[in-house]
Amino acid sequence: MPRRATTPSLTWDDGAILTVDQRYLPHEHRTLRLTTVHQLVDAIKTLAIRGAPAIGLAGALGVALSAYRHHTADGLDEAAVRADAERIAAARPTAVNLSWAVRHVLTRLPEGPRALLAEATALLAQDVAAGRAAVTRAADLVESLTPDRPLRVLTHCNTGRLATAATGTALGAILELADRGRIAEVLVDETRPLLQGARLTAWELGEAEVPYRLCVDSAAPAAMAGGLVDCVLVGADRIAANGDVANKIGTYALAVAAARHRIPFVVVAPESTWDRELADGTGIVVEERDPAEVTSVLGTPVAPAGARVHNPAFDVTPGDLVTAIVSEHAVVRPYATRGRLATELAAFSR
Ligand code: MRU
Repeated sequence: MPRRATTPSLTWDDGAILTVDQRYLPHEHRTLRLTTVHQLVDAIKTLAIRGAPAIGLAGALGVALSAYRHHTADGLDEAAVRADAERIAAARPTAVNLSWAVRHVLTRLPEGPRALLAEATALLAQDVAAGRAAVTRAADLVESLTPDRPLRVLTHCNTGRLATAATGTALGAILELADRGRIAEVLVDETRPLLQGARLTAWELGEAEVPYRLCVDSAAPAAMAGGLVDCVLVGADRIAANGDVANKIGTYALAVAAARHRIPFVVVAPESTWDRELADGTGIVVEERDPAEVTSVLGTPVAPAGARVHNPAFDVTPGDLVTAIVSEHAVVRPYATRGRLATELAAFSR
């Protein structure tokens, strides 16, 4: 069995947050050493640190970083830390993990910087454990939903160890299936416009020695129609109480195509991604990003100067297109919960 990389994606080192700069992977491995909240917010906004669980954990460490910087002989400037925490939580709006983790760590503010760091470090450990539990559960589920032969699975964006503390979510489940000898091939969407699939998922799969092929995002529905896909596995940035799922732009199209071809569509995400205060996905704020991400490809302009752009970073997949959502604690089937299309679900559960 190939050795799995277990290096934590984020660590605390003597007053600084250390991480790999995901913008330069896979061709350059640059370590980022973040010593100010300003640097951290910039790293999150520019996707040097990305993936819902990872930005939540970075945010948690950021609150501790702020507390150490605002702690003097006169004590802790709590107002300054709260202001920094607000800036961190607002760095990206869609993934609920970020604001959740920042709020969670802030509950220890009166106890001082050490307590905040201990809470952030505990969240990192929890994410590793949650990831392990969720990927095992997800792999079990996929085995129960699919034919008994090595599988062709399709994934979108990057949901591997880089996007979490260490284990990954959907990609972690794919690696778990590979360890069980159940993966024939992974079809990896390149994930326009920032190519998280082509740059990061392909790299993680190669590192783990799991066979994969890259495809442009628009090739995925035809691949499903052509019988090249047994299951779709993706992560999530925010899940509403009814099971509507916000994830990387392009996910909704995959869910529609998977439903059309009766292919299981499985979401793997830790409980910290659920936003149970939101009744449904209509309340999810979808981040709109810089037009230059669309008008240029890797820094080279392709569109005519002045082209207007629609660049949502995420979309929302209605829960009734989702076969199952798997967390560290449960398998939730929004389809079944709503009692809709129960016959199709039964067909999935063969
Ligand atoms: O814009 P990104 O790269 O942060 O988007 C990431 C995704 O959409 C992932 O699928 C999601 O955060 C889950 S990561 C385990």
